[in-house]
Amino acid sequence: MRKTIIAGNWKMNASKDSVKSLIGGILSGMEGVNAEVLVCVPFPYLSQVELLIEGSNLKLGAQNININASGAFTGEISADMIKDFGAKHVIVGHSERRSLYGETSSVVAKKTKAALDAGMTPLLCVGESLEHKKSGKTETVVEEQINAVIELLGIDSFHNIIVAYEPVWAIGTGMTATPEQAQAVHLFIRNLLGESSENIAQKTPILYGGSMNAGNAVELISCPDIDGGLIGGAALKAEDFLQICKAG
Ligand code: PGA
Repeated sequence: MRKTIIAGNWKMNASKDSVKSLIGGILSGMEGVNAEVLVCVPFPYLSQVELLIEGSNLKLGAQNININASGAFTGEISADMIKDFGAKHVIVGHSERRSLYGETSSVVAKKTKAALDAGMTPLLCVGESLEHKKSGKTETVVEEQINAVIELLGIDSFHNIIVAYEPVWAIGTGMTATPEQAQAVHLFIRNLLGESSENIAQKTPILYGGSMNAGNAVELISCPDIDGGLIGGAALKAEDFLQICKAG
């Protein structure tokens, strides 16, 4: 039985004040939440959130890392650095990083490796653009993105990887994939992992992301192969985020 995981992706949204009230709001409503819940916050706020969540069930994650462990990489952040601030998870390969910062599947696979080498759990994001979807290439795109990680790290690496299927056309657009559409791609991903290991396929959490909100979370998460959500916009309001957490 896979546990439901709800991860908030705050993207580049935070201030010391907003962090204080958002984390405070989430913590005050965590009773009765059975899902594993984490927040992936911008780097400068890791320390603040680490202190605020001390002793709670809420977990901390980051949104990106460099592929290298340390060295002359001005402006970059390593996996060990975010781990130093209590982060156990890190998002890799978010579509905004792939499209705006040119991260190829090969770079994303290296970031996945950097996270695993540091003993962290990467949230590996995959998903097709609207153009790909329209031309019937969803499965081809997702397969290439997953295979890049299998090729570099082997199927066993998925013991410690969380996959997030995020159709690019659904991110921040309010155009959520229907439960049927999402379930079909989740099953495709699980079967793809199953070609190398049925055991890994059954154990790997596959989250859905893309305009998930309090209104559609229950329906999406109740699909057999959807194990939770990666939440952007709706993770910025404690009340909305908590409703999604309770859907799991
Ligand atoms: P959204 O973002 O929930 O605002 O669509 C999801 C994501 O980008 O992870």
